Amino acid sequence: MNHPGTQTPEPVAIVIIGATGDLSQRLLFPALYRLFSEGAIAGSLAIVGMSRRGMTHEQFRTFVREGVQRDVAIDAASWGRFAERLFYVSADSMKEADYAHLARTLADVEPRFGTGGNRLFYLAAPPSTYESILTNLGRSELIRYGSRQLWTRVIIEKPFGRDEATARRLNVLVDRVIGEEFVYRIDHYLGKETVQNMLVLRFANTVFEPIWNRRYVDHVQISFVEDIGVGGRGRFYEEVGVVRDVIQNHVLQLLAIIAMEPPAVFDAEEFRNEKAKVLRAIPPVQPVAAVRGQYAPDLVGGQRVPGYREEEGVEPQSPTPTYAAMRLQIENWRWADVPFYLRAGKRLARKDTEVVVVFRQPPLRLFRDYDIAGMDHNVLVLKTTDDERIALRFGARVPGHKHEIRSVTLDFSYRDFGEPEHPAYEHLLLDVMRGVQTSFPRRDEVELQWAIVDPLLMYWAGHPPDDFPNYPAGSMGPKEADDLLRREGRQWRTD
Ligand code: BG6
Repeated sequence: MNHPGTQTPEPVAIVIIGATGDLSQRLLFPALYRLFSEGAIAGSLAIVGMSRRGMTHEQFRTFVREGVQRDVAIDAASWGRFAERLFYVSADSMKEADYAHLARTLADVEPRFGTGGNRLFYLAAPPSTYESILTNLGRSELIRYGSRQLWTRVIIEKPFGRDEATARRLNVLVDRVIGEEFVYRIDHYLGKETVQNMLVLRFANTVFEPIWNRRYVDHVQISFVEDIGVGGRGRFYEEVGVVRDVIQNHVLQLLAIIAMEPPAVFDAEEFRNEKAKVLRAIPPVQPVAAVRGQYAPDLVGGQRVPGYREEEGVEPQSPTPTYAAMRLQIENWRWADVPFYLRAGKRLARKDTEVVVVFRQPPLRLFRDYDIAGMDHNVLVLKTTDDERIALRFGARVPGHKHEIRSVTLDFSYRDFGEPEHPAYEHLLLDVMRGVQTSFPRRDEVELQWAIVDPLLMYWAGHPPDDFPNYPAGSMGPKEADDLLRREGRQWRTD
């Protein structure tokens, strides 16, 4: 079957706006180089980087190479072929007049590399610039609106807007300038193997789906725990904070996929319809069911790490949260009364992003003569961190004469397949080039995600914290986040 998700992409000229930023250097160029060197994308390719910084094409190639070689072994011959397709335009994306320079470069490289006129714009610039960039792209006629023979697609990074109102405004602009069919709102979590596998796990197996509901599930935890601080991204982080950076997008998308109903067919519209439906069933988070935090300096591994307020680009009295935990409800037949606990934070004890489904305890009176102290709920853990894995905890009788039941773990790692690993950005860039929108949130999803967190963000903005910083770097966040679960007789999992 010639599935659209397996076709070789058509020739294209890719324009990266914000080409000298961290995201481009660290993630986008390495992904593009790997796709190119593996032959996954056509040789008829040109890549134009655009940024304000003054640079020659040669300097830009060196800059890209520095990023690529950090995590890919470069092969001289493919690098040579890739590098000759790289071009640079020094321009201010906020100024309409500067786009003439980009248009000239495209007019020069498109026929040279046989890209056929298809264009892909990647907005890898700060979120506050998206409106101007879209407006300028539209006005400078670089986007061929509504054309299917000769397509123009646009990728927009997260966060998409600052709240529901700004997201709606941006969506209206997207509609006018590009059209929903050609926009790709990227959320790189949807390109991770574990996330791509969630529907397979739930709906291509017999054993999970029948128990995936309020009758068997006690609660669900989604943790987005990171050990890194904000590093060189202080200015960006001051604009967003933890909720806009990862909860409104990555975490709520994970939740939607974990909680959605099965689509009738697996295509972009049906999949996104089901996610939107579950997001619509979630009432806004209540401030009383949420906790915020900010990291203080501390010793981590014997070394002092700075507090958030000491990071470059951060205000000395900043109220920006670097940690948040909250409790959500999904008010539908499958999930009513099952709490979903979410937490995300920087500078915590470890890096761990995972979904944990905790099942109800069975009646255990039958085993009243057993030692069950080491026995826990059945738990299914889906880890989306680097070593992506799935683990199932269940009780087993300890061998020997004692009567004891202990929890044991069945563990599966994606590495067991022995296949080469492809970072999320590779999957997603390939999808865009193939015109497959399945892994890209639709307009309504993004707006619904804002509607869930907006009242909390407004409440927090109106009530600045008086206890920041309130958790030490290297810890697991503020104590109040533990209390949030403890008062309901639960605790954050540490599996
Ligand atoms: C990004 C956030 O979207 O995701 C970062 O902006 C975060 O703050 C990153 O560190 C985490 O992604 P990953 O793939 O490293 O888990």
